[in-house]
Amino acid sequence: MSTWSPQSWREKPILQQPTYPDQVALKRVLAELKNYPPLVFAGEARSLKAQLANVANGNAFLLQGGDCAESFSEFHADNIRDTFKAMMQMAVVMTYSGGLPVVKVGRMAGQFAKPRSSDTETFDGVELASYRGDIINGTEFTAAARIPDPERMIKAYNQASATQNLLRAFASGGLADLHQVHKWTLDFAHQGEVSKKYEEMAEEIEKSLQFMEACGVTSKTYRTLRETDFYTSHEALLLPYEEAFTRKDSITGEWYDTSAHMLWIGDRTRQLDGAHVEYLKGVKNPIGVKAGPSMDPEDLVRLCAELNPENEAGRLNVIVRMGAGKVGGDKENGGMPALIKAIEKEGMKVVWSCDPMHGNTIKSSNNYKTRPVDNILTEMKEFFQIHKAEGTHAGGVHLEMTGKNVTECIGGSFTVTEEDLSSRYHTHCDPRLNADQSLELAFLIADSLKEARK
Ligand code: PEP
Ligand code: CO
Repeated sequence: MSTWSPQSWREKPILQQPTYPDQVALKRVLAELKNYPPLVFAGEARSLKAQLANVANGNAFLLQGGDCAESFSEFHADNIRDTFKAMMQMAVVMTYSGGLPVVKVGRMAGQFAKPRSSDTETFDGVELASYRGDIINGTEFTAAARIPDPERMIKAYNQASATQNLLRAFASGGLADLHQVHKWTLDFAHQGEVSKKYEEMAEEIEKSLQFMEACGVTSKTYRTLRETDFYTSHEALLLPYEEAFTRKDSITGEWYDTSAHMLWIGDRTRQLDGAHVEYLKGVKNPIGVKAGPSMDPEDLVRLCAELNPENEAGRLNVIVRMGAGKVGGDKENGGMPALIKAIEKEGMKVVWSCDPMHGNTIKSSNNYKTRPVDNILTEMKEFFQIHKAEGTHAGGVHLEMTGKNVTECIGGSFTVTEEDLSSRYHTHCDPRLNADQSLELAFLIADSLKEARK
């Protein structure tokens, strides 16, 4: 058996990678990245693992959310702030109405590389290499833009670093103080039924805070009222980049991927003997693995054994993304119940979370890639029902969302129609929930959490 090293993945078959025409430039960039400061510390990754262990044990809920793909063109402090606020709103709804602490993890500060269903794209009879995320090539439909350029990794690192810095400031500099509960409301979200529900809840929280203040419990005396922990994550797809940030922790002597607190393996790159599993096996961060409809229960058990041999609670997050009506399984496929049964039989500890986005993508009649909010809500409900029936903890949610008022997913209480899609469709890859739609989902999750605890 060969031993693991930060580059041992290079010996394994690998999918979804760019071919860089300029290998000299690639080597130069990777050597430079190896000298760049880490974006996160090993100790922080361990704190997240401890919080995820609470989730695995049924005592907390995981909220993971952000862009499908971060982009260079949408990089702006306001976008980062608004996604942060939207996640704070969702978390407070789930904690206050759902009764569980919420672990917050952004798909932010490094979520750039995208797996694609096809290596090429054809438009008007012209065939070009597919766009693979801003860290690799450009979205413009020109041959030049689609050439993988290693310099993009440096730009992505710098953007991730600035994003991480701002997130740290938001989490500990006052914006996350519970007394700001009213200020997390986004400017455009003032009318709808969901915003009204949020305002009512915020009033109640303010009253409770006043009462607690009278009892001597204030933001000054309690860090948890004043600050939050906000972690970062992305799909560990572009392995040369991840390898450059693989550093040995000076305290424990263990390897960590310091490009984010948590990394996950996509549904297309989770082959047991493949490069992505090999790489993530050796780093001690909390990790995720996506499970689509083709996930075989025995393969999931083998994956868990490979990725979490010590059966550490909080190490492994199984992110189920099967689609509404499919997550419960059918004649050919046992769906999530079969996965849960296989894992439970082995006594394996995992965090189960629901990605209600990737199994619900459709083409609208006017040719937009979209997702019906109704199907997203349905898959989420099914996820809770199945865990209730199996006696396991519905541990979390994994979302593509933004704090902006985009029109990318159809439906929701503030209805976005197919005709609306063209008005504010900004995503660089998959359609995201906007702030209203995200908040609506948060209320559904809160109700389901309350119900599950009965
Ligand atoms: C994603 O999370 O953006 C993604 C590509 O998901 P999956 O691997 O589940 O298709
Ligand atoms: Co996506």
